[in-house]
Amino acid sequence: MENRENSSSLAMGKSAQEMGLPYVPECYKIPSSHRPILTPETVDMPVINFARLRQSEEQRSMVIKELGNACRHMGFFQIVNHGICQYILDEALSSAFDFFKLPAEEKVKFMSNDVYKPVRYGTSLKDRIDKIQFWRVFLKHYAHPLDDWIDSWPQNPPNYRYVIGHYCVEVRKLALELMGAITESLGIVPTYLAKKINEGMQVMTVNCYPPCPQPDIALGLPPHSDYSCFTILLQSSPGLQILDSKNGKWKSVPEVHGALEVHIGDHIEVLSKGIYKSVVHRATLNSKRTRISLASLHSLELEEKIETAKELVDEQNPKRYKESSVKDFLNFISKNDIGEGKSFMDTLKMKN
Ligand code: OGA
Ligand code: NI
Repeated sequence: MENRENSSSLAMGKSAQEMGLPYVPECYKIPSSHRPILTPETVDMPVINFARLRQSEEQRSMVIKELGNACRHMGFFQIVNHGICQYILDEALSSAFDFFKLPAEEKVKFMSNDVYKPVRYGTSLKDRIDKIQFWRVFLKHYAHPLDDWIDSWPQNPPNYRYVIGHYCVEVRKLALELMGAITESLGIVPTYLAKKINEGMQVMTVNCYPPCPQPDIALGLPPHSDYSCFTILLQSSPGLQILDSKNGKWKSVPEVHGALEVHIGDHIEVLSKGIYKSVVHRATLNSKRTRISLASLHSLELEEKIETAKELVDEQNPKRYKESSVKDFLNFISKNDIGEGKSFMDTLKMKN
């Protein structure tokens, strides 16, 4: 009986991770050359004290410098003193946990493989379609403007809309502030993009990684960079790993209570002409406890194209990236398997 499943025989809503199978089916096994090391070196994480951004000009310009260095050399950092109170973070994680604990009937209402849907529940990346399946369950929904979307979110658990809605609003405020600071650190006008970001998208991905019986041969999410300006991540326990672009080594990201993690995404790489690089990361598993993460992706509006800032391009320094929109990205992932092969970012790089 064991290991007979392939990616199309596991019915939707009955994936190995949802059923808690005591073994890892063949279609989840990562080729041995790409299997994760579960206890790698811990990453040296830049910490940005957000409160200082809001203090004197002098403090602000120091933090902007630190931020620029973190974006230039690492592509990720942690923010502390961000102003979102611990209670909101704890409640958001706990409501997310409660959603995944609901009976299958409640969750399958939202189930879809259609990447264009504004609210959807799923497993892996594209359930049953991708060759390799990932040990993840997720709920993804649009979050801005909140009033347009909140009525289509789950009604259970009963506090879900209120608690996650509150968290989304708080994180978005932070995102707008961060966007201003990042553009300032690049030496481009801080209001550059402000309007477009203000009218842009916020997509909340609520990830759940149930315990995996053999965490050394499967992954929660394959290596990828996020198609966003940046992603603000809250995690319940460690499991996230990032690729150190300097030496090609995977490193683990510690969970710091109360801190939020920021990943530079593909939009900022394009905007900055590669001065800031989007960070490649993956989610690893453990055999003991469920891990939850809330990833808030901030980008331009669905069909609005991001392009390199005008200040960074002239005749001697031509563009290096094609412009693209979130819609272009969705078109790409609906046709391609991001678990293997070319990433969307590879298709944007110009050969000149
Ligand atoms: C994502 C992501 C990481 C994690 O949702 O894009 O990278 O730790 N999540 O869940
Ligand atoms: Ni990601």
